[in-house]
Amino acid sequence: MEKILNWIDDRFPLTALWKSQVSEYYAPKNFNFWYYFGSLALMVLVMQIVTGIFLTMNYKPDAAKAFESVEYIMRDVSWGWLIRYMHSTGASMFFVVVYLHMFRGLMYGSYRKPRELTWILGCMIYLALMGEAFFGYLLPWGQMSFWGAQVIVNLFAAIPVIGEDLSVWIRGDYTISDITLNRFFAFHVIALPLVLLGLVAAHLIALHETGSNNPDGVEIKNHKDPKTGIPLDGIPFHPYYTVKDIMGVVVFLAIFSMIVFFVPEMGGYFLEANNFIPADPLKTPAHIAPVWYFTPFYAMLRAVPSYFGTQVWGVLVMGAAVMIFFALPWLDRGKVRSIRYRGNLYKGWLAAFVVSFLVLGYLGVVPVTVWGQFAEGMPLLGGADKATVVSRVLTVVYFLFFLLMPWYTARDKTKPEPQRVTG
Ligand code: HEM
Repeated sequence: MEKILNWIDDRFPLTALWKSQVSEYYAPKNFNFWYYFGSLALMVLVMQIVTGIFLTMNYKPDAAKAFESVEYIMRDVSWGWLIRYMHSTGASMFFVVVYLHMFRGLMYGSYRKPRELTWILGCMIYLALMGEAFFGYLLPWGQMSFWGAQVIVNLFAAIPVIGEDLSVWIRGDYTISDITLNRFFAFHVIALPLVLLGLVAAHLIALHETGSNNPDGVEIKNHKDPKTGIPLDGIPFHPYYTVKDIMGVVVFLAIFSMIVFFVPEMGGYFLEANNFIPADPLKTPAHIAPVWYFTPFYAMLRAVPSYFGTQVWGVLVMGAAVMIFFALPWLDRGKVRSIRYRGNLYKGWLAAFVVSFLVLGYLGVVPVTVWGQFAEGMPLLGGADKATVVSRVLTVVYFLFFLLMPWYTARDKTKPEPQRVTG
């Protein structure tokens, strides 16, 4: 074995890479629960690619055959049902894991100097992931696939001047058709997975350049052993964090298996009932809602009125709600990174942001009429339905979390940050 390794090392820096990136890569010793989700996201990415390859072996990207090829996978292909449920559950769980991963960044100020680029690459991954999920959702060619894509592509038509042409260009046709299905297939199985892999590699390279942040928000590189140059609060990634991450993978897979084997549709949240009906361009479903991970943005879209007879404002608000994450490193002016040492202003705004995101997520799933109308006696609100008014308020809260951040982070009464991690 040693001979083989030496032979490789003379030609490729295998041992050097293993040491610098794994066995002698020093990570803060105080990682907690929230640090499971990066490695879990990596595992889900690999799982999606592997199950995706097997699905592609039997799936047919053809409007006349796509739906039945998925039914064929579910009924006739050996283990096809398992592969498909792993892939559909994996898509939703990817977003669960990534949302928790992003929330960790918000809590511990991981996006702040010097990790801005790790954060920005993360935001680009998030965008690519949304694209990947959107393209994939058209492929089963069910009612929701068809009408969901129709709604989203039509949003582009709201852009002034170029909108109409742009939406035709995206579809390759005047309506969602076989041509659209073919190109979405190409994006879903090759273009975006390549982009995702490249971005994830860059995300990790950037992270290993600066080293990880941690729950105390303390820079471990500032306190090194003078003799060895090793951070005093650092421990080697391997074996300590490889073992920790394996523990996370085991727990995750237990939950994942329970969903795949017992509730793969997750009450309509992971797989919608309407999508078990073949796409019918002549029959619009009564209630079109995207999959749960898009619904906070969909609720914002529905909440914005069509001033001057155009939907473009809603589209802009929805786009801004995603893009604003990129600006975070420059909006935060707090003296400390971690929520542990922040004051009530930051904690309060973060809580308001999370609540608005979750409630908007709920309101994006249900029909706008869910809570009924405001009483006629309320002159300002008479006629408006309650869910729309609440969505508007929460959309404002969502944006204020970001826009007021320079102000409230600078004014916040922070506690002194410790020199070393607290364990
Ligand atoms: C496919 C999706 C992603 C993968 C595979 C991935 C992978 C990872 C891994 C393995 C780590 C180190 C372990 C950890 O800190 O948990 C990490 C750290 C980080 N990621 Fe991601 N990530 C993804 C998406 C994102 C997104 C969407 C964002 C933000 C918008 C993001 C922001 C960060 C930040 C700021 C860190 C450093 C955290 C710290 O040191 O405290 N990542 N990522």
